[in-house]
Amino acid sequence: MSGALTIAPRRPVGADTIVLGIETSCDETSAAVLLGDRDVLSNVVSSQVDLHARYGGVVPEIASRAHLEVVLPVIDQALADAGIAAERVDAVAATVGPGLVGALLVGVSAAKALSLAWRVPFVGVNHMEAHLYASFLEDPDLALPMVVLLVSGGHTMLVEMIDHGRYRLLGSTIDDAAGEAFDKVARFLGLGYPGGPAIDRLSAEGDPGAIAFPRAMLDDGLNVSFSGLKTSVVNWVRKHPDVATADVAASFQAAVVDVLVAKTRRAAAQVGAKAVAVGGGVAANSLLRARITEACRTDGRAVFVPSRSMCTDNAAMIALAGWHRLLSDGPTPLDAGADPNLQLAFET
Ligand code: KG4
Ligand code: ZN
Repeated sequence: MSGALTIAPRRPVGADTIVLGIETSCDETSAAVLLGDRDVLSNVVSSQVDLHARYGGVVPEIASRAHLEVVLPVIDQALADAGIAAERVDAVAATVGPGLVGALLVGVSAAKALSLAWRVPFVGVNHMEAHLYASFLEDPDLALPMVVLLVSGGHTMLVEMIDHGRYRLLGSTIDDAAGEAFDKVARFLGLGYPGGPAIDRLSAEGDPGAIAFPRAMLDDGLNVSFSGLKTSVVNWVRKHPDVATADVAASFQAAVVDVLVAKTRRAAAQVGAKAVAVGGGVAANSLLRARITEACRTDGRAVFVPSRSMCTDNAAMIALAGWHRLLSDGPTPLDAGADPNLQLAFET
């Protein structure tokens, strides 16, 4: 037993528990108020995208400073939007990792301070677990076991959610994350940061069949690889300098989506999943959303594609993962730190 200070819940965790969620792991400062395990009373997201765009990526020092400037106003706004007095909050949940350490510390420190001031539990949340939970905010009755394709800027994983808090890793990237591939290719094509939305938009004007980029490891297991695809794009454009950028974007996007959809389908069949869901920033991609929906319909499997705002970083998903963790594990000791490399615990 840890001798560290842990603040116990005032009453059992249930449908009337109010969790304040805080997210500061990367470049969005977000706070949300959640009632029980399904009612999002507010979800305020303040994006730093404009601050980082001129550098072509997230600058950690700038991110920490920007979080520090807005975290308290964002929390105030979330409470005001929800119409909730501070005294009514039952627990404060914050992302403790993975992410940028300086950025994480801002949200973790704010959450611990509020927990102490309000005498309510602090709950440390794994950011990846929160992405897995995002679908439940819009469809609380999703059937388990479910296969989730989690595709963000830092991660690409196929996860079987066996039950609440129980996960099996079915596949992952052996090199670049899907979002990283979008961002790197967009940067090379001069489309700016963040790359995913730019490629998504430009692809609408291009021909996805114009260039036959490789689909790495398509017929081989559940892992994916995107670094070879990125190199192929660079080599193609250098050899064909007059190629239409929209055709390159659309052909690249089609290659990524083909692989992600094929692997998700295979994973779902392999474990006999009742449902498929997607999460993470890349799940905001128009082609991926359309193709995964179509594929699951063909396979007769339920599919859930959350709204775009639930795919990208937000505190509502942190509050929900916090609600589940508070129920299963209880409060987190106040001496627990932020962990930039935090892993999700997988069963084998
Ligand atoms: O989950 P997220 O908001 O932050 C992380 O936890 O990483 O994901 C950000 C990633 C970025 O790489 C961004 O380019 C990508 O998601 N992204 C997209 C789209 N919107 C965001 N990728 C493809 N198409 C999109 N529409
Ligand atoms: Zn994320």
